[in-house]
Amino acid sequence: MSQVKYDFSKKNVLLVGGTTGIGRATALAFAQAGANLYVAGLGAEHGESLGEEITALGVEYVFEEVDVRDPKAMKAMHKAAFERYGRIEFAFNNAGVSGKTAPLQELEDEDYNLQMDVNLRGMFHGLREQIPHMVKHGGGAIVNTSSLFGVMGFATTPIYCASKWGVIGMTNSVALEVARKNIRVNAIAPGSVMTPLIKEMFGGEQAAKDTVLPMIPMGRISDPSEIAQLVLFLCSDAASFITGQAVVIDGGGFVAGADQL
Ligand SMILES: NC(=O)c1ccc[n+]([C@@H]2O[C@H](COP(=O)([O-])OP(=O)(O)OC[C@H]3O[C@@H](n4cnc5c(N)ncnc54)[C@H](O)[C@@H]3O)[C@@H](O)[C@H]2O)c1
Repeated sequence: MSQVKYDFSKKNVLLVGGTTGIGRATALAFAQAGANLYVAGLGAEHGESLGEEITALGVEYVFEEVDVRDPKAMKAMHKAAFERYGRIEFAFNNAGVSGKTAPLQELEDEDYNLQMDVNLRGMFHGLREQIPHMVKHGGGAIVNTSSLFGVMGFATTPIYCASKWGVIGMTNSVALEVARKNIRVNAIAPGSVMTPLIKEMFGGEQAAKDTVLPMIPMGRISDPSEIAQLVLFLCSDAASFITGQAVVIDGGGFVAGADQL
């Protein structure tokens, strides 16, 4: 197998939703590539243990527990990150929840609020701080986490799907707003990744496997480190002409389409 090695040394990355799963794997991949990290999310114990792994790699690390639904806290967190590093070149807006999995008529307003507020409003809170900072500093790259469920529907996840379709709409619009400002904004649309979220969505690891494996042509669930590699690619100069895209990374599930269901 060939190896790709990225060099993000002396670069600073803000990673929102980085304590576990895809975010954590991406924080580690950036640190292995030499970047300093400012990680936000929920779960101080995860933030601390991630810090031990990251600082052992010889880069700088700050963790801040922040709820993306809280605009004041998000504003303050971004201010602190900008002050800490001076310039943030890359932002990864990755915080998300699965919420309740059920047919639409069984979902409550609270379910709607949780999924839309974390998955979409939280991203809005992040982007509106990140964009002016990157404009002021002459450029940057942003990656937003959507989902395979942001490009297709899936029975029993109507609000989650709506939030993730929204992520792509927001990504595309912002990408156009800053296309001439040396800022690229892309989304990733992962299929199934073995993380706490997918276990929660389908009621445990085995139930998740039983549900999704038949739908994945490559016959396996991805590892978070594989998604991390896509984020690094989209932030790197190798992706210098890519903006406003939602890159599906799903082992072939999307092209197989509904026939698999
Ligand atoms: N696992 C999958 O199969 C899959 C597939 C497609 C998309 N995604 C998306 O990937 C992203 C990461 O999820 P994951 O699978 O790694 O799960 P995860 O549960 O391991 O990670 C979720 C992250 O979001 C953070 N978060 C949740 N609610 C938050 C809040 N209110 N404020 C701040 N941070 C909050 C958590 O602290 C954590 O860092 C999510 O946006 C999810 O929707 C996951």
